[in-house]
Amino acid sequence: MTPDSTRLPRHVAIIMDGNGRWAQRRGLPRVDGHRRGAKSVKDVVRAAREVGLRALTLYAFSSQNWDRPPDEVATLMQLLRDYVIDERAEIMGNGIRLIAIGEVDRLPDFVRDPLLDLVRDSAGNRAMTLCLALSYGGRESIVAAARALCELATKGVIQPSDLTEARFSEALQTGGLPQLDLLIRTSGEERLSNFLLWEAAYAELYFTDTFWPDFGREHLLEALASFDGRERRFGLTREQIRSAG
Ligand code: IPE
Ligand code: IPE
Ligand code: MG
Repeated sequence: MTPDSTRLPRHVAIIMDGNGRWAQRRGLPRVDGHRRGAKSVKDVVRAAREVGLRALTLYAFSSQNWDRPPDEVATLMQLLRDYVIDERAEIMGNGIRLIAIGEVDRLPDFVRDPLLDLVRDSAGNRAMTLCLALSYGGRESIVAAARALCELATKGVIQPSDLTEARFSEALQTGGLPQLDLLIRTSGEERLSNFLLWEAAYAELYFTDTFWPDFGREHLLEALASFDGRERRFGLTREQIRSAG
């Protein structure tokens, strides 16, 4: 099944949740779930590229996840490093542009250095943007954008009256990405957990009980099929939407 590209979301984001429970249900340590989750990332990125998404944003590590047990945080950092090193050829070979959102400065050097190298080297790629949310929080990102705009206002570069919704959206780290169309969360939880709070304003939400390590191409296609069946109204009436075609 390949979704009709005219009904494809341009930008999909995924809260990749349930690694720990996937492992615990098998009597394995939580970090084994994270290792298996890394494989799902590879499969889903490839599938997203093949079906023709313009942008895929993956919530890999939240600002709040720093407070997890140190061993678990250390393993997650190691897996992130492995991911950017192991997937370099795949990303470059498939024309994928990698970007990162979040407090990238908080990442240890052994993650940040190969990450930023790949961000730089892939900057000219055009097939799809892969956006990794790392040490990311939606509230934190809104505050960072507000702070940057306040600084511009203090310097007289902009006036408070210049601030519009569009201008604010551009100031966010996601400013260069297409509007978020579809937000997926795995593992049965139905909450945003501080992800893309601003950007999700009119996103379609899709929740699945599947744990992230079990999520793959077919699950992504199921989510895309669900999106295809939705009627997005953006505050208008059904009649208005249908007459606009
Ligand atoms: C998602 O899986 C991965 C990260 C948050 C880094 P979890 O580790 O949250 O797994 P559960 O929710 O505890 O099962
Ligand atoms: C959200 O999952 C963060 C990521 C998937 C990276 P969490 O597991 O941290 O969220 P909560 O704690 O269930 O809200
Ligand atoms: Mg979780």
